[in-house]
Amino acid sequence: MKITSLVTGGAGFIGSHVVNHLLKKDHRVVVLDDLSGGTQENIHPDALFYKGSILDIELIHQLFTEYKFTYVYHLAAYAAEGLSHFIRHFNYQNNLIGSINLINASVNFGVKCFVFTSSIAVYGTNTLPLVETQYPQPEDPYGIAKYAVEQDLLNAQKMFGMDFIIFRPHNVYGPNQNIGDKYRNVVGIFMNQILKNEPLTIFGDGQQTRAFSYIADVAPYIADSVDLSQAYNQTFNIGSETVFSVKELAEAVTRVMKSTIKIKHLEQREEVVHAYADHTVFNTVFRPKTETSLEKGLKEMALWVKAHGSRFSETFDNIEIKKKLPNSWK
Ligand SMILES: NC(=O)c1ccc[n+]([C@@H]2O[C@H](COP(=O)([O-])OP(=O)(O)OC[C@H]3O[C@@H](n4cnc5c(N)ncnc54)[C@H](O)[C@@H]3O)[C@@H](O)[C@H]2O)c1
Repeated sequence: MKITSLVTGGAGFIGSHVVNHLLKKDHRVVVLDDLSGGTQENIHPDALFYKGSILDIELIHQLFTEYKFTYVYHLAAYAAEGLSHFIRHFNYQNNLIGSINLINASVNFGVKCFVFTSSIAVYGTNTLPLVETQYPQPEDPYGIAKYAVEQDLLNAQKMFGMDFIIFRPHNVYGPNQNIGDKYRNVVGIFMNQILKNEPLTIFGDGQQTRAFSYIADVAPYIADSVDLSQAYNQTFNIGSETVFSVKELAEAVTRVMKSTIKIKHLEQREEVVHAYADHTVFNTVFRPKTETSLEKGLKEMALWVKAHGSRFSETFDNIEIKKKLPNSWK
């Protein structure tokens, strides 16, 4: 009998790649996604797709009753870190309460392992490189919600014995990414701007640093993690080791897309300036292959982006707090 896995957010970027890998591992895969950020086109046709929300407790109960999942991969979230200051209620409802709905069901139905994509946003401004043993001090509601879910998983493990694996990815990019959301996914934003012949917009001077991580260096390890007993009840930074400034990224995207479009600097926004992580713990347990270079990863993504065309960037229609909202987001 096949192992059945639930992937929430399986129509999204990382989730759709996790689904593809699970299918290769011969899992039966159920996708729960409300398509708020992902697309049906991203979902592998062999996955069983349910369009619905992780806030719908009744639907969650139905799915767990019907499929008796062995593993839950919980990736559904609205991952707009910068915007989360201004959509606090929505952020906690969707990213925290939605997660708790799944943890409750997973405990009640005896799920063997709950895999959760947290984020390096939990660290906030911290000593670099960010290491799992550091005390998290998230600086925005998105990071706070992720850290709260991590804590709840630890607690559920102690209390009910449900095993978990937590990943803290950072700045992942690649095919299937939503390039039409102006609030997140800087690589996608730049590529979309080039397709639309618009200048590449950077908040502040562009000297913020990040380690941009190619999807092939992230999704397969998330999918495989449940087979590694050493990974159980552990937390892992996952992603690239190589650090670039956002300005360097803009230049690399311009080069790869063979564009001559210029950069436009916008007012500095509230954000962590430098964020990159140590991966010793991940490397010890997962023994990953050599990482994809930024140039190679961007080329792969550019091919996909050009084949799919530009996307219209909608404005989030329920901003809860307008104070200090960057002008370009109004
Ligand atoms: N992309 C990154 O660099 C990155 C970095 C750190 C952490 N993460 C985390 O990884 C996960 C996947 O991120 P992604 O980049 O693939 O984003 P994504 O937006 O492409 O995927 C998220 C998916 O969740 C779905 N979703 C959102 N709210 C939902 C709800 N209430 N019910 C059901 N489905 C819902 C969206 O429709 C989307 O398909 C998220 O949890 C995110 O916080 C991503």
